[in-house]
Amino acid sequence: MTKPCADPTIAMRGGGYYSDNSINAKRVIDATTPLVEEALRGTVSRTSERPYAIADFGAADGGTSLELMRKIVRTLRTACPHRAITLTYTDLPYNDFSALFRRLHGVLHVADAAPLAQEPGVFTFASATSFHRQIFPDETLSFGFSASAMHWLSAKPGLIADHVHAIGATETERASYREQAISDWTAILLARARELVPGVRLVLANLCVDELGRYLGSTAVANLLDTLTQHWRALACANIITEDEYRAGTIQQYYKTVDDFVAPFTDPDSPVSRAGLRLEHVSTMLTPCPYAAQFRHRGDGDAFARAYVPHFRAWSESTFVGALNPRRPEAERAGIIDQFYRAYEADVAGRPEAHWADRVHGLQTIVKAL
Ligand SMILES: C[S@@+](CC[C@H](N)C(=O)[O-])C[C@H]1O[C@@H](n2cnc3c(N)ncnc32)[C@H](O)[C@@H]1O
Repeated sequence: MTKPCADPTIAMRGGGYYSDNSINAKRVIDATTPLVEEALRGTVSRTSERPYAIADFGAADGGTSLELMRKIVRTLRTACPHRAITLTYTDLPYNDFSALFRRLHGVLHVADAAPLAQEPGVFTFASATSFHRQIFPDETLSFGFSASAMHWLSAKPGLIADHVHAIGATETERASYREQAISDWTAILLARARELVPGVRLVLANLCVDELGRYLGSTAVANLLDTLTQHWRALACANIITEDEYRAGTIQQYYKTVDDFVAPFTDPDSPVSRAGLRLEHVSTMLTPCPYAAQFRHRGDGDAFARAYVPHFRAWSESTFVGALNPRRPEAERAGIIDQFYRAYEADVAGRPEAHWADRVHGLQTIVKAL
């Protein structure tokens, strides 16, 4: 039997909702600009025979990386005014690629600048092939970027009995998630090793557990993933969802540590080293929650709750919709999911000073050896 190549429980909310509610994710991408500029330096001449091929791996609807992509195009234009540039956005088959193209062509939101997809000499494409596999032909990619995407696993190595995320799993559960994440990391790197032109780079901003044990939402009084679990469990306690549905609310993610990111590069005999990849830069970065900053400035708890909850609803909703028994009528499922996030929103509005979600990323610049 062929393995299904995609899972509908991994999909950002469509119609532009993801980027419209993810200024925190955009801040992370914007903060990678110096690393990206550094990585681009010197690569134009190495790839001068062909179009300059850029990829954004796990791009969702493309809104959060739009400004960075514009900057990259500007940098390349300065270095090489007549060079064709291809910009390929990759994600999974259930991604809303229509919203992505509407954004790129300026019809989802009318931007101040000319639509990126209509810039002379810029050619935009999309691929729905998982980044766990090779997406581009051998040695054709001039620069690769990815943000907040590679913590999604290629498969769910079982359900987590009493938490929505591997971060709150038992030791045994977490070990199987880690094993999956480590094997996925190798697969991701080996695929990129084939795609990259020798001498060019990848810049990755991956959600992680940092040296201080911090991860997305862990620095708040109300830990984001624990609070999500509490509200999901409350539905089971109130018999609104079944115990099976409660357990199925397991997000297919794992946050790697810096050691996990670095390991394939430290062993010269690892498949990744033998494939020619070298780690040039590694660091961690905490991006403060912009929604909480707005709340501290304006002091309106209800407005904060209305802005804060959609930023994680955008990426978590598909998991919880997928956890519900498909025999439930669609409207009933939608009602349960609304109730779930509304309860979280009421929680935030009731104690706004306890909630925030700092993002914690591991940054890597990886070069394909000449
Ligand atoms: C949180 S969004 C990040 C979007 C954007 N890069 C950003 O930083 O705002 C994660 C994206 O990764 C995508 N994704 C997850 N697993 C993937 C895979 N195996 N291949 C490609 N994309 C994947 C999801 O569908 C989603 O659109």
